[in-house]
Amino acid sequence: MLAIALLGFLVGTTQAITYNVIAEPPANMSVAVVVDKVTYPLQATFGILYKGDAPSATTEYHYAFVDNKDVKVSEPFTRPPLKDGLSTTLNEFFNRSISTYEVNTLPQVLEPLSSIHRINSGLHNMNQIPSIHIYGNTSATKYLEDNQLEDYKVKLNVAYIGLDNVQIFENVKVSLAGRSSRWIPKLSYGLKFDKKNDTTLFGFKNIKLRSLARDSSYLRENLCYSSYRSIGAPANNKAVGLYGLIETFQDPWAAAEFADGEKGYKAGYLYQGIGFSLTSAGVFKVSDLRYEGIDMANYRFGQYKIKAGKHKKRINAYQDLQEFTKFINESSVSTTPESEWEKKLDVDGFLRAMAIEDVLGLSDGYMTVANNFYLYRDPNQNNRFTYIAADMDSTLGNGIYQLDLMLSGNYSEHPGFFFRPLTRKIFSYPNYLNKYKEYILKFTQTLVNPSIMFPYIDSVVDMIRPDVEWDQSLPRAGGRVTEPFGENNQQVVIDFLTRYSPPGLVPSIDNRNKSLDAAINGPYRTDDSIDLKGFIRGKNANVLSFYNQPNTSL
Ligand SMILES: *[C@@H]1O[C@H](CO)[C@@H](O)[C@H](O)[C@H]1NC(C)=O
Ligand SMILES: *[C@@H]1O[C@H](CO)[C@@H](O)[C@H](O)[C@H]1NC(C)=O
Ligand SMILES: *[C@@H]1O[C@H](CO)[C@@H](O)[C@H](O)[C@H]1NC(C)=O
Ligand SMILES: *[C@@H]1O[C@H](CO)[C@@H](O)[C@H](O)[C@H]1NC(C)=O
Ligand SMILES: *[C@@H]1O[C@H](CO)[C@@H](O)[C@H](O)[C@H]1NC(C)=O
Ligand SMILES: *[C@@H]1O[C@H](CO)[C@@H](O)[C@H](O)[C@H]1NC(C)=O
Ligand SMILES: *[C@@H]1O[C@H](CO)[C@@H](O)[C@H](O)[C@H]1NC(C)=O
Repeated sequence: MLAIALLGFLVGTTQAITYNVIAEPPANMSVAVVVDKVTYPLQATFGILYKGDAPSATTEYHYAFVDNKDVKVSEPFTRPPLKDGLSTTLNEFFNRSISTYEVNTLPQVLEPLSSIHRINSGLHNMNQIPSIHIYGNTSATKYLEDNQLEDYKVKLNVAYIGLDNVQIFENVKVSLAGRSSRWIPKLSYGLKFDKKNDTTLFGFKNIKLRSLARDSSYLRENLCYSSYRSIGAPANNKAVGLYGLIETFQDPWAAAEFADGEKGYKAGYLYQGIGFSLTSAGVFKVSDLRYEGIDMANYRFGQYKIKAGKHKKRINAYQDLQEFTKFINESSVSTTPESEWEKKLDVDGFLRAMAIEDVLGLSDGYMTVANNFYLYRDPNQNNRFTYIAADMDSTLGNGIYQLDLMLSGNYSEHPGFFFRPLTRKIFSYPNYLNKYKEYILKFTQTLVNPSIMFPYIDSVVDMIRPDVEWDQSLPRAGGRVTEPFGENNQQVVIDFLTRYSPPGLVPSIDNRNKSLDAAINGPYRTDDSIDLKGFIRGKNANVLSFYNQPNTSL
């Protein structure tokens, strides 16, 4: 007995362990680790990661908030001693007993498009939630928050804290991100890492932290991105958590997605469709790939942006987009063979993207409001365009379109299917339409199917639940904006939007706040929204009955 106790004592005193915990103690307090009832102080690094050496535990350890050496708040559970041979903990989270999770995955339904050569990046590790801490100049952060609609960049530091790695970025240009996402109190942020510095975050230099505040399930974007990955189509993938972690489409994004991160890769033009623009002179333009005539100025009203490409500032930088819209406009089944289309567009990728857009109910995508998409002119594919979907929070029953239309199993009823120039033209080709119908059925059977998606949803919910509770308890940095268009009268914008969109639009900037469980399981149903699982169940049943198929997964 004595020998064993002595051995324990020896091990306990000789082997130093580095303890790491992410914590935000109350003002005036610090953080300590309590090892077998003895308290050892930890030091703050990068604002929120507390670190320090202490003996290894024989029975237990846990973290605490301390005032000098007095423990004021203890974690309400104990942590087991580290496994033999380990000399450092993971970056643990104060008050969370579990650090890694078993998250289910969605099946790979189709091989990725041949054009995708994505770097193998750790950015979207699915079974953990990294912490991103933005810190530094406090008057700069305050300025951002007080001027929520202004485009203003401040320089701050960013710490990315994964489970077993920490990366620090100095002089990061931080701005508020998004358009409609600025109208709600929980803000979204854009991060641009120092251009001159080689450091990247897992190969990326520009990321966006999306607030997910319009989606009380916190899951819709994650499910959509995971689905795009599953059908092998490009999208700016994201991790799970309180903030969506999104790659923004700026150099070197194209290299990371299409060229294995190759240095010196010369990206082609990357055009972004941002839905619409309304100039102060009252000109309204919509980015639905309509042909705007020979005057290239018509493409530069702000309805499109150029996110990559060598000469993106040049006045003729919109020429390739203009030519493509002209091609769409002038082509027809009788005069333009499919081979011509394949030279201009990765048609298979577009068919996949449209099919999943319907099945996932993207209410602010290309077909509905001509928004949230990119066209990439890929130099490795003879400069043909690849369609890329982005930003998917108004989806899966959290929409800005009449729910009946989004839930329809009849693809012709999806808003915009016959309305937008590119879908109208492509689907006048019988082969393309047939392929599209096959994709819709396949994605419904193998992906947007309760027996496949619900286990995935449940496992992600287990992981994010404590974070969601924490997130919902925080004060919001921003305020609610009631007149987002400033002098542009809101009704004018809504009138234009309604005129330029297919029927069924339900414009709303509501922050639909619900508890996590209600958002996911409901049951609730309004004209334009439904709980997450209700959408998946309803869409699956409607598509299968439209195709007259039994409800089985393949
Ligand atoms: C923090 O410390 C200051 C000075 O020691 C004291 O006046 C203040 O009340 C403390 N605040 C809290 C929250 O304990
Ligand atoms: C720790 O978690 C418990 C249970 O989730 C919660 O009641 C408590 O407020 C948390 N404590 C701190 C300091 O976050
Ligand atoms: C902090 O940010 C403000 C606003 O961007 C800026 O004016 C000021 O110079 C910054 N201070 C420091 C020390 O960088
Ligand atoms: C690049 O950034 C890292 C992290 O901010 C910093 O440690 C390093 O000194 C920087 N290098 C250069 C050349 O500026
Ligand atoms: C082609 O473009 C012209 C001019 O923008 C437009 O009036 C016409 O409706 C378009 N035709 C098709 C088939 O899209
Ligand atoms: C699908 O919707 C279209 C457009 O509303 C309609 O014409 C067609 O009859 C519908 N098909 C079925 C099988 O209901
Ligand atoms: C939802 O919003 C209402 C009114 O703004 C607020 O009282 C309530 O606490 C919010 N609920 C959640 C879950 O955030």
